[in-house]
Amino acid sequence: MSLQAQPYIHLQQQIMYQKGVKHLCDNGLTHVPNKYILPEPERSQNLVVDGCIDLPVIDFAQLQGADRPQVLASISRACQEFGFFQLENHGIANETIGKMLDVCKRFFELPFEERQRYMSSDLYAPVRYGTSFNQNIDSVFCWRDFLKLSCHPMQDFASLWPSSPFDLREAVGDYSTKTRHLYQRVMEGILESLGVMNETAMSEEGNQLMMANWYPECPQPQLTLGLPPHSDYGLLTLLLQDQVEGLQVQHKDKWVTVKPIPNSFVVNIGDQFEIFSNGRYKSVVHRVAVNSMRSRLSVASLHSLHINRNVTPSAKLIDESNPRVYRDTSFADFLDYLSSSNFKSKRFLESRKLY
Ligand code: OGA
Ligand code: NI
Repeated sequence: MSLQAQPYIHLQQQIMYQKGVKHLCDNGLTHVPNKYILPEPERSQNLVVDGCIDLPVIDFAQLQGADRPQVLASISRACQEFGFFQLENHGIANETIGKMLDVCKRFFELPFEERQRYMSSDLYAPVRYGTSFNQNIDSVFCWRDFLKLSCHPMQDFASLWPSSPFDLREAVGDYSTKTRHLYQRVMEGILESLGVMNETAMSEEGNQLMMANWYPECPQPQLTLGLPPHSDYGLLTLLLQDQVEGLQVQHKDKWVTVKPIPNSFVVNIGDQFEIFSNGRYKSVVHRVAVNSMRSRLSVASLHSLHINRNVTPSAKLIDESNPRVYRDTSFADFLDYLSSSNFKSKRFLESRKLY
């Protein structure tokens, strides 16, 4: 190969990576390209706890019944200790869940040209197909493609969602409405467990985003990650995962793998809620490992305050012995952080600390 040819090939490869991991794999792959290889200390096999820790499991039906006080106490412990819990018996039919997973899988299986119609480098786009974590700035890419759909208010967005597969709009409409209702009940429980019911800011109509993540099977999974360590920006995330392991939660400087429970949700506290709770409930760092045997699908329903709204600590959780931990924080602060050089070297929440 001549020296002149190399920059051209390099450019071709960069364009290829922007098209996503699914596209890369469909063209045949026996090793992980350099673009996806993480430095040794950041790889997925490091510091993983073998088996012995499970996330707390909360029974939603019990939360709605006579055992509510005990369940609230379990929620409180889970949110302080892990920032995560699994939620079962939540009342959303298996059929609704199955349809959502199935339709998302069929979206990722569409020909590339069809998926490409929704590609955009605009972080604000209400419908966006993309790859990696933030493909505009990631130096090492992660092994994931995603479809992001704004869901609330639904009448503003439903006509923008992909029209193929033919049943996607119906499945997303049904699923997002039901997860939104479930979110409201779970949020009521979380607020009650903190002793701060009737917080008007929290019961306002906020934002709901659906993030479908596709992690293709990977020929050398130990070299890369599906998602890098991050915390979720919003108030609360309701995550649906298929039966393939991959999600890992940071716990005491190690990583705990979340065992999938069929038809249940993984619920986690986001940065906005940690700020609101003045640090009582934790927005915990998590990441996704990939594997060589099976592709993996997850769907995160991300709930946050309205974009124009500041998050501020609850007055009920602040006194002389519990001073404010964080500055008031807006969505604009988060976007500034995403495009700043601090990104990845420092967590967003750290950048909002008062001392
Ligand atoms: C996310 C996320 C985990 C997963 O979308 O923010 O952490 O298992 N997803 O896909
Ligand atoms: Ni996340």
